[in-house]
Amino acid sequence: MKNTVQTWRQAKQDGVKIAMLTAYDYSTAKLEDEAGINGILVGDSLGNVILGYEDTLSVTMEDMIHHGAAVSRGAKNALVMIDMPFMSYQTSVYDAVVNAGRLMKEGRGNAVKLEGGKEVCPQIKAIVDAGIPVCAHLGLTPQHVNAFGGNKVQGKSTEAAQSIIDAALAVQEAGAFAVVLECIPAKLAQIITDKLEIPTIGIGAGVGCDGQILVYQDMLGMFSDYSPKFVKRFAEVGEVMKEGFAKYIKEVQESTYPAQEHTFKIDDDVLDKLY
Ligand code: KIV
Ligand code: NA
Repeated sequence: MKNTVQTWRQAKQDGVKIAMLTAYDYSTAKLEDEAGINGILVGDSLGNVILGYEDTLSVTMEDMIHHGAAVSRGAKNALVMIDMPFMSYQTSVYDAVVNAGRLMKEGRGNAVKLEGGKEVCPQIKAIVDAGIPVCAHLGLTPQHVNAFGGNKVQGKSTEAAQSIIDAALAVQEAGAFAVVLECIPAKLAQIITDKLEIPTIGIGAGVGCDGQILVYQDMLGMFSDYSPKFVKRFAEVGEVMKEGFAKYIKEVQESTYPAQEHTFKIDDDVLDKLY
C-alpha cells in the first residue's frame, strides 16, 4: 500500500511506528521499498555520504533533483521526501515555493523537508498552500553547523528545550505534516511527540518518537568517516563489499576470472575464414 501523508497521520493515531531510511539512487530505493520501508528521505546528507563534503552546505538544487528523481523511480510504496538544500528556502518565501515546486516537478517527490522552526513558518505555510506536503526538521539541524559550532546534542537546557517544543507546535500550526527530531534528549522528544498531532520521526531522539530515520550507509556499516552514538549497525555491508572487491581483484590478477561460463563463443568455421 502506498504511504501518504494520510496513512502516516493514521499510523500515529493507531500507534503504528513509521520506519524511514535515506536513499540517493534507484537501486537502493528499490531494495528499501521492497523491504517495506514507509518513507525514503533523499537527504542533503548526500553531501556527506555520496559527494564526500564535510557538511551539507554545498549541496545544490540540481544535486537534490538529480538524486530525488532517481529515488522516485525506484520507490513504489514508500513516501519519497526530498530535502530542500541550504539557501533554497531561507532567502525568501518566494524562493521556497519555487524550489519546493522544482523538487516535486523535476525530482518527483511526494513531500519536501526543510530545517528550522518559527523563522521558516512563513515558508512552510506557503509551500503547503501550493499543495506540497512539508516535513519540518528540529533539534540538530546540520545546515546550522556554523551557528551551532559543530554537531552537538540540542535542547539540554530548560530554555533550549522549551524553544524546541515551541518550534514543534509552530511548524505543526504552519501546516507541516511531520517533523524530524534530530539529536535531542529522549524525554524531550517524548514530550513533543505527546503534544503533537503530526508524527515525529526521530534520529538520535529515543524510542518515544512516532517513527525513526537513519542514513542507510550508517546503519549498514558502509560509512566510517564518523559514527554518531545513536547509530546502530544492522549489517556490516561495508565489510562484505570490501571482501567482494578483494576477491575480484585477486581473480583478475590470477586470470581465474572470467571463466568459460562468463565467456562468449564463436564457431570454428567462422574463425577458419578469418585472415
Ligand atoms: O539529510 C539527512 O539525511 C537528514 C536525516 C538525517 C534526517 O536530514
Ligand atoms: Na538533511
